[in-house]
Amino acid sequence: MNQHKSHRILFVCLGNICRSPAAEAVFKAKAKLQGIDVFVDSAGTSAWHQGEKADSRMRQAAAARGYQITSFSRPFNRNDFQNFDLIVAMDDLNFDDLKEKALTSEEDQKIVRMRDFLRHHRSDHIPDPYYGGADGFNLVIDLLEDASEGLLKVITSPARDSVQ
Ligand code: 4NP
Repeated sequence: MNQHKSHRILFVCLGNICRSPAAEAVFKAKAKLQGIDVFVDSAGTSAWHQGEKADSRMRQAAAARGYQITSFSRPFNRNDFQNFDLIVAMDDLNFDDLKEKALTSEEDQKIVRMRDFLRHHRSDHIPDPYYGGADGFNLVIDLLEDASEGLLKVITSPARDSVQ
C-alpha cells in the first residue's frame, strides 16, 4: 500500500466502540471508492472497552449503510503520534485529551477535529451516541460520510500544506 505521508489517519473518540470505529470504516470505504490509498485505524482516549468489538448498535447502523466495522477497541498511545500523520478527534473532549498528550508542536499539529471537514451538515462535534437511541447512531453515520468526503478532498488537494 502506498502509505503517502498525509494518508495515515487515526480516528479517535472516547471508548473506541462507536464513533471512531465507524469513522474508520466509512473513511476507508470512501477512499477505496475514490481509488485513494490510505492507512487508517481508530483508538479511544480511554481504555474502558479495550479488546471489545464495536458496539452492536453501531455495527448494525453501519452495516445498514454498507459499512462493515471489524475493529477491536484499543486505547490511544504515544506511538500513534509517530505512526499517523493526522489524528482526528470526534469531539472537543477527545480533542483536549489528545492535545494534553502531545509533547512537541509537530505532535500537537497533527490533532484535528472531524467536524472541521463537514461540508453539508452543521455540527460542532460528532455526538456521542452511546446513551441514546437508534437516531443517534444514524446521525453519526450521516456526519461521518459528509466529513470523510471533506477530509479526502483536503488530503488529496495539491495546494495543501496544512489541514488546519
Ligand atoms: P464512543 O462512545 O466514544 O463513540 O466509542 C462511547 C462508548 C462508551 C462510553 C462512552 C462513549 N462509555 O461511557 O462507556
